[in-house]
Amino acid sequence: MIFVEKSGKYYFHYPFPVAIVGSKYNNSINFMSAAWHTQISFDPPLYGVAISPKRFTKELIEKSGVFSLNFIKYDDYKISGFVGRTSGKDLDKINFFGIKYIKGKKLDVPILENAVACYECKLIDSKTYGDHILYVGEIVGIHYNENEYKDGISDGLLLYAGNDMYTKSENTYLVKFGKEEVKKEIDKRKKL
Ligand SMILES: Cc1cc2nc3c(=O)[nH]c(=O)nc-3n(C[C@H](O)[C@H](O)[C@H](O)COP(=O)(O)O)c2cc1C
Repeated sequence: MIFVEKSGKYYFHYPFPVAIVGSKYNNSINFMSAAWHTQISFDPPLYGVAISPKRFTKELIEKSGVFSLNFIKYDDYKISGFVGRTSGKDLDKINFFGIKYIKGKKLDVPILENAVACYECKLIDSKTYGDHILYVGEIVGIHYNENEYKDGISDGLLLYAGNDMYTKSENTYLVKFGKEEVKKEIDKRKKL
């Protein structure tokens, strides 16, 4: 294994699902791509997304106190490029790219029509870490397309591989290895 103390960009843990962050304040509606996001808590359901202060999205989230996180399919990778490589500061992305969205059920957030799932989030906290701000939202509503989920898992989710490359989740090699299976292994090893 190679060891380095620092690497400007570090993508060694990729691929990672793309979350399209939806935001709205007054008449400004915007989407941007995010690969830096994480589930934080089940109860209450909290989700965090790291957003650079340079983003237009930052302004909209801070003014409105709400945002949406949309997960899309690999086939829709162009949406990620469109909203992740242009800024709402310069372009009305929705109109220019013809992005279709609906209004949130509980919050005034835009929900991507193409999303396989979407979390409506109410901003509860934010903190700057290095060159990004971590926005933590409480999920107050979840939309999902039941046709896209089997056993709670969606096949073909859009994943970001870094450097403008995309791939997808494949459930072909799905394997279960949980508490029961681990217990069996432990028992086997104990007998050795
Ligand atoms: C796949 C992908 C993932 C990205 N992930 C993030 C991210 O996690 N955080 C971030 O601040 N910017 C991220 N970006 C960059 C923003 O999406 C990009 O700067 C976008 O133009 C911001 O739009 P806005 O200025 O309209 O908010 C990502 C871009 C792409 C293409």
